[in-house]
Amino acid sequence: MSAKLVMKQVSKTYGDGDSVMSVLHNLDLEVNEGEFVAVLGPSGSGKSTFLSAAGALLTPTSGEIFIDGESLTNKDKGELTELRLQKIGFMFQALNCCLT
Ligand SMILES: Nc1ncnc2c1ncn2[C@@H]1O[C@H](COP(=O)(O)OP(=O)(O)OP(=O)(O)O)[C@@H](O)[C@H]1O
Ligand SMILES: [Mg+2]
Repeated sequence: MSAKLVMKQVSKTYGDGDSVMSVLHNLDLEVNEGEFVAVLGPSGSGKSTFLSAAGALLTPTSGEIFIDGESLTNKDKGELTELRLQKIGFMFQALNCCLT
């Protein structure tokens, strides 16, 4: 059985030129069914960036992400929406910003 989540050499960079911010650096990760993973790090270290990539909400600058053996790389917006609907639960860090 393939892993639930696989990341291969995933990198994410925000901005460009003088304001470039490199956040994820060639990240390799495998999470199997039944595993619980906690991501720890100081503010600004990239936890939300990592989770957004793992949750199919953010496209990495390079590398490849697989969910249930399916690569996210060539999926269009509609396919990613369907995949999130079927396979991903996501609690946003700033959920309360959107509730009135
Ligand atoms: N959309 C964006 N554009 C530019 N820079 C960004 C963007 N999102 C995040 N960053 C920067 O990327 C770095 C990592 O941010 P991220 O939100 O992933 O960190 P975090 O570990 O979740 O922090 P916190 O513990 O405060 O939630 C930070 O320096 C942040 O300023
Ligand atoms: Mg965060």
